[in-house]
Amino acid sequence: MSDELPAPPAIARDVFAGQAWDRACAFAELLAGPGVVRGLLGPREVPRIWDRHLLNCAVVAEAVPPDVRLVDIGSGAGLPGIVLAIVRQDVTVTLLEPLLRRTVFLEECVAALKLDNVEVVRGRAEELAGERVFDVACARAVAPLDRLLTWAMPLLREGGELIAMKGERAAGELAEAESQLRASGARTAELVTVGRGKVEPPATLVRVVAGRAAPERARRRRRR
Ligand SMILES: C[S@@+](CC[C@H](N)C(=O)[O-])C[C@H]1O[C@@H](n2cnc3c(N)ncnc32)[C@H](O)[C@@H]1O
Repeated sequence: MSDELPAPPAIARDVFAGQAWDRACAFAELLAGPGVVRGLLGPREVPRIWDRHLLNCAVVAEAVPPDVRLVDIGSGAGLPGIVLAIVRQDVTVTLLEPLLRRTVFLEECVAALKLDNVEVVRGRAEELAGERVFDVACARAVAPLDRLLTWAMPLLREGGELIAMKGERAAGELAEAESQLRASGARTAELVTVGRGKVEPPATLVRVVAGRAAPERARRRRRR
C-alpha cells in the first residue's frame, strides 16, 4: 500500500463483499498512485479515498435496479462508474468521459481490475443522444441538475432513471430544476437517501424517472 492511503474502514469489508474486495483495494491503489500522479485526483483526496470516494459511490448501488445498462456521465477517474461495476457485476457500465487523459486512465483501470462489465466511451453526453439508450444514467460532480437533465434524459429509455449524486445540494437543485424537469418530460423526481449505517452522513441522491419521449427526443425522431 502507498504511504498515504489509509487502511480501509471496517465497513468497507461489508460494502465490498466477496470478489469485490480485491478489486476495491486495487482501485484505491490506482487512484492514490497513478490517479494522483496524472492529475485525476488531488493529493489531498488520498486520505479520503475510502470514505469520500469508494464508499460514497458504492452505496449508490442501493438505488440501482438489477441487470441494467448504466452510463456514468463525466466519469473522470471512474467515480462512481468503476465502483458500481465492482460491486454490481450484474450491471453493464459505460464510462462516458470527453477528456483523453481520463479515458486512458479509465481503460487502464478496467484492464488492471479485469472488469468485463465495463466499456469506456470518449465523448460528451450530448453527443451520444440518439446513438445510445440506457436504463440508468448516473453522475457525480458533473453539472447542476437542470443541465444534467438536458444531457441525461435523451440517453434514457422510457421509465429509465437518472441518479444524480448531489449530497447537501440535492433539495435545492431539485427545486431549481422544476421547469427543466417539466420540459424534459420527467415522470417523477425525488430525493433518495442511501448508505445508512455505511457512510456518514448517508448519501443523498436525486432520482428522476424519464417519461415517454421527452420533447428533445421527439424532435430528434421527427428529424430522422
Ligand atoms: C469534476 S469532474 C467529476 C468526475 C467524477 N464524476 C467524480 O466525481 O470524481 C467532471 C467530469 O465531467 C466531465 N464532463 C464535462 N462535461 C461533460 C459532458 N458534456 N459530457 C460528459 N462528461 C462531461 C469532465 O471531463 C470531468 O471529467
